[in-house]
Amino acid sequence: MRGILMRIGALLAPKVTAAAATCNSALTVDDFSKFSTNLNTLGEWTSDDSTMSSISAKSGVLSFTPKTNAYFYETFPCQAATENGYKSIQFTVKGPKGGSMNVELQSKTSCSASDFKSAIVPVTGLTGSTQTITLPLSSFPSSANTNAISGILWSGFSSNSAWELSNVKFGCTTDASTAPSATKDAVSTAPASQKSGTPSKDGSCAGTSGFNCLGWSEGECCSQYGWCGSTDGHCKTGCNALYGNCAGAASSPATKDVVSSTRTTLLTSTRTAPATTASASAPGTCSNLLIDDWVSQSRLTFLFYNAMLQPSSDDASMTSLVVGSPSPNHVTINPKDTSSYFYSQFDCVNAKNVYGGISLKIKAPKGTTFSIELDSSATCDPTKAVQVTVTTADLGWTFDGTEKLYSIPFNKFSGIDTGKLTTILFAGFTKSVSFGPMGFYCGNTGTEVKITTTSAVAGPSSTVAAPKGTAAALVIDKFAKADSNALGFWRGYDEGMKVTISGSKATIISQDADYSLYTQLSASCTDYTKYKGSYLHIAYSGSTAFSIALQQHNSKCDDSIAPYPETWDSLEASRYAKDGHIYIPMSHFNIELKRTIGLAIKGFYKADQVVLSTIEIVPSVPATHSIPNKLESGDLVFACKRPNSFAFAIDDGSPEYAQEVLKIVKEENIKVTFFTVGAPLLDESTNLTNVYREMEAAGHQIALHSYTHPKMEGLPDYASIDWEYKEDIDTVAKQFNGYHTNYFRPPFGNEGARMRQRLAQTLGAKPTITMWSVDVEDWLWAETDTPEEQLKAFERDVKKGGNLVVMHYLYPSTVGYLKQFIQIAKATGKQLMRVDQCMQDPDAPAL
Ligand SMILES: *[C@@H]1O[C@H](CO)[C@@H](O)[C@H](O)[C@H]1NC(C)=O
Repeated sequence: MRGILMRIGALLAPKVTAAAATCNSALTVDDFSKFSTNLNTLGEWTSDDSTMSSISAKSGVLSFTPKTNAYFYETFPCQAATENGYKSIQFTVKGPKGGSMNVELQSKTSCSASDFKSAIVPVTGLTGSTQTITLPLSSFPSSANTNAISGILWSGFSSNSAWELSNVKFGCTTDASTAPSATKDAVSTAPASQKSGTPSKDGSCAGTSGFNCLGWSEGECCSQYGWCGSTDGHCKTGCNALYGNCAGAASSPATKDVVSSTRTTLLTSTRTAPATTASASAPGTCSNLLIDDWVSQSRLTFLFYNAMLQPSSDDASMTSLVVGSPSPNHVTINPKDTSSYFYSQFDCVNAKNVYGGISLKIKAPKGTTFSIELDSSATCDPTKAVQVTVTTADLGWTFDGTEKLYSIPFNKFSGIDTGKLTTILFAGFTKSVSFGPMGFYCGNTGTEVKITTTSAVAGPSSTVAAPKGTAAALVIDKFAKADSNALGFWRGYDEGMKVTISGSKATIISQDADYSLYTQLSASCTDYTKYKGSYLHIAYSGSTAFSIALQQHNSKCDDSIAPYPETWDSLEASRYAKDGHIYIPMSHFNIELKRTIGLAIKGFYKADQVVLSTIEIVPSVPATHSIPNKLESGDLVFACKRPNSFAFAIDDGSPEYAQEVLKIVKEENIKVTFFTVGAPLLDESTNLTNVYREMEAAGHQIALHSYTHPKMEGLPDYASIDWEYKEDIDTVAKQFNGYHTNYFRPPFGNEGARMRQRLAQTLGAKPTITMWSVDVEDWLWAETDTPEEQLKAFERDVKKGGNLVVMHYLYPSTVGYLKQFIQIAKATGKQLMRVDQCMQDPDAPAL
């Protein structure tokens, strides 16, 4: 999704180095001290064109983690290297032991020629430690002209692990004492990604031909190095005004590439998210139309959709975009610099005579400025749009550090067709800011776009009899002590939630549906079967927007083996609550009471305060308190049930890695389960429907992973939970020939009573809610300096007996380890299979 810089041919008129046949000292091409500006020691452009998953330079060393087909290059004034006595290319590298890569020399027929040719030498057998490579110029294929060298490119990295590069030089010697086995079986073609570049409409920018970048899709700024683009390197100090459009570049980066570099409009344009309460409607009946409620980090930064399910992204131009910060339904925008931008698309909204503009609450420090671009398109094609930009100054906006409502009236954007609005884009931020919900406002005066949450759909509301139990009461917790309960066992809670234990009460505020407060009910496996006829009683005040979970220990009653706990059942506090008391029949918890281990208060879906004063088990319920029926809540599974089985359950990630995953599971000849998010299946640009059709045909299991990947239990109401399930189930059926499945993996592993019950309700069947007991922790390690921790995490969990995997193909390092993961699993002697097979599902295909 990143904007990609595109090389377009001619470099600046060459500086030919003075003839001096003896070489006194090496010529440093790059010491990486200026890497942050994309310039090397010779003052010219150097980049990976965003082909690496991460790249940075520190203390003269470039560290990077390649994606598939990644490359990195240095350009410089044309070098008559041989004439000037240089004999080699030298550099210091650290790559994986046994690793390899290609080094490509880019040279021209003469320094005044415009096109370069590539000559490649593979470097193999890396030591795994830092080593200096000396490649004699004579080792490159004869197509290389060592008297007109214009660039060096590294590519073909043998692994997507961490690499380092430093000290790139032309050397005076060919002393290869430290050189590895550079072999001569070189190919003379460049990697596809580096063919000499697609010429712009006008040919190329700069050079002697005088071509420019105007109208070029990668951006209209021509850097002094002969490249068209839209980033600072091209548009700011790099800009060559003669050949590009540099005016106002800093505050308004060329945006042509912004929209075109992103996915095409979703095919779901006729669907609307549940929170969207209005479509363009006649005045008088109008209600504000939500564009984004900043409700899901994954929707914004992984799936790139706004609340209208239209594309939205910063194309990784920001340092970060954090949703839910500083408060729910807000986003904090942290720009890298003024070239950072962020956009949201609409499905060609007709605002004429309905909406007067777009409004949102903004909090920004005093003195902040930025610009706002609105696009409209006669053909409803966001890539072919009229773009009009105004600044915060044009709108008369000032900021003072407090949150206020701001409106963006369409009449400030002359030339825009308000009947066909396609995109809003924010850029040129001088400081970090936060936005509240953003949407179209009705009429001519900006009004706040409120998040409308539909009122809860009532669940089945019959009540059941409440017979008396026979066991004596058991006080579990009166909150007398800070970190242990009345049974003397541990009580604690997740970091991030606000819990105060004081005055024999626990006061809880949780902003996140992932947080839990735990209280342990037994040292190991205590048999609570005698309480089967009893009731869990919780005395509370405040909110009841949470779940209560009773946990079951594993079959060995051993907390050092996985999974621990083995499962739990979550029930909805509000269904069982009345007048400050919650009574839940112990029998409503679908677990083996014989192995009860603990209780969790969790799944908070509002940030409202909850105060608990007593947790106990009692034999009876006051006559005034009726008990609702037990709702189906599915099976929450963390491990395979079939003896000696092991299952890879892979959640989808970045479409670009799908083919590699497909290839590896094929090579390893195993069957796996893919949990796939619904919305991207309908987005043709992801190709994911085709990928999963192929996987399904190859015998893999396709399963549900929600429609837009929110924390399901965090959703505000039944309607929005149901919508996620329904759209997902319908999409899977539509894309996969009527296919229906009851296997679901909760995004982020976020679980609670409502998401379970609504899933069972929507499916009309008992779901298998698939968690995991082997976590490769890709979310934690994949993008760090120690991606190999993923292997360690995998091995650790497998050693503990885990046999159900969670991983995503989001990062090259994770995909790079997939083969090893599979081989480690095979080495356990267990049989690898799909999740439904390992659950002994009678409907699963035979092994
Ligand atoms: C889309 O996926 C299919 C199935 O895996 C594959 O054959 C095809 O090459 C992919 N297309 C693109 C453009 O990647």
